[in-house]
Amino acid sequence: MRTQVAIIGGGPSGLLLSQLLHLRGISSVVLERKTKDYVLGRIRAGVLEQGLVRLMEEANVAGRMHREGFVHDGTLVAYGDEMFHVDFKAHTGSGVMLYGQTELTRDLYEAREKAGGELIFNVEDVEIAGANTDCPQVHYRVGDRIHQLNCDFVAGCDGFHGVSRRTIPTDQKREYEKVYPFGWLGILSETPPVNDELIYSNSERGFALCSMRNASLSRYYIQCSLSDRPEDWTDHAFWDELKRRIPAEQAEAIVMGPSIEKSIAPLRSFVCEPMRWGRLFLCGDAAHIVPPTGAKGLNTAASDVQYLYTGLRRFYEDGDMEGLDSYSAKALARVWKAERFSWWFSSLMHRYPDQSMFDHKMQIAELEFLRSSDAAQKAMAENYVGLPY
Ligand code: FAD
Ligand code: PHB
Repeated sequence: MRTQVAIIGGGPSGLLLSQLLHLRGISSVVLERKTKDYVLGRIRAGVLEQGLVRLMEEANVAGRMHREGFVHDGTLVAYGDEMFHVDFKAHTGSGVMLYGQTELTRDLYEAREKAGGELIFNVEDVEIAGANTDCPQVHYRVGDRIHQLNCDFVAGCDGFHGVSRRTIPTDQKREYEKVYPFGWLGILSETPPVNDELIYSNSERGFALCSMRNASLSRYYIQCSLSDRPEDWTDHAFWDELKRRIPAEQAEAIVMGPSIEKSIAPLRSFVCEPMRWGRLFLCGDAAHIVPPTGAKGLNTAASDVQYLYTGLRRFYEDGDMEGLDSYSAKALARVWKAERFSWWFSSLMHRYPDQSMFDHKMQIAELEFLRSSDAAQKAMAENYVGLPY
């Protein structure tokens, strides 16, 4: 089989890239290790920057997002019983879109299927060969049949644990990592959200986040220990702990109900440089991870997709390699800024196991500065709504 762009990974990066290329007449095949239902069952991001909203529009898949998503013009930040508002719209002129990654992925699958896009599920033993030559190939197995896909380029959109990054020889890449000493325990519950904007809370008992998917579906997170397992936490224990970590007024107002999903995500900052080896281009979580506090993971994947898509278009439309040659440098310049913001906001909001009283006082002083300074709020707003690309 032959295609122009072999895309490894059928998560949001791979699907969005494939749909954008299709609209420009560039062929691709998406290889996904899991089933579609499995991919759609993963509850992840909820906050989309304007850049991703625009890309969804360009990909002709923004209809349901605009109908069902919620525009948030700001957020609440709490510490102890104190709480203040950061107005994104007033500071930057724009807000963010609340729309689940699951829904966005569903819309992309639907569009790809409608257009007869080539999506292959349950692929195993994926191997990329000849990435540093002019004719790369991807080998994979489905059941007991081995396949070979010949292509011009390979897009490695296969997430943090994928095969693409591992294909780049060790002496051709450098990896930077910070692992945080805690995780996030998240639940999804069919209850009305406690507030119409998100609440990020730094409490003595650890971080908590009140988020939402729609008027009757809430998403809540609490900082947990890395040794915890979701089954260690009954729904009752979760609600109890969440209520102790947010201001009293919100704790009283919270509507509790059974969780319909419960999972733990460890927190990590990670970057691989460069994001290209020959004709293999890393995109999204395959190249970088941020802790979820800044809501930047999916959004940074989207800016990669935009740069890669533009580079591929220039190649196929004008025979010009410049966009592809500058892909890694351009993507990384934005990635590092998203890394910085996510690290800053995570450091500000969590309780660290070895945190001294001095460290704690520094967090509170910074939160009080953020509360009182227009300049500090503007800097936060600018990063939260997303740096331009
Ligand atoms: P993935 O979603 O990981 O997709 C990669 C795909 O590749 C997967 O489907 C996988 O099955 C497949 N794959 C892996 N290996 C192979 C292989 N060898 N062969 C073929 N296929 C393979 N981001 C935000 O921007 N905003 C948020 O609010 C936010 N909240 C989050 C909350 C949580 C709890 C978590 C865990 C993440 C959150 N994120 C958020 C991050 C966001 O979900 C990720 O950054 C995003 O999923 C990255 O998309 P991706 O397509 O690059 O990778
Ligand atoms: C979510 O709704 O899942 C969500 C929102 C904001 C974050 C992280 C996750 O920072």
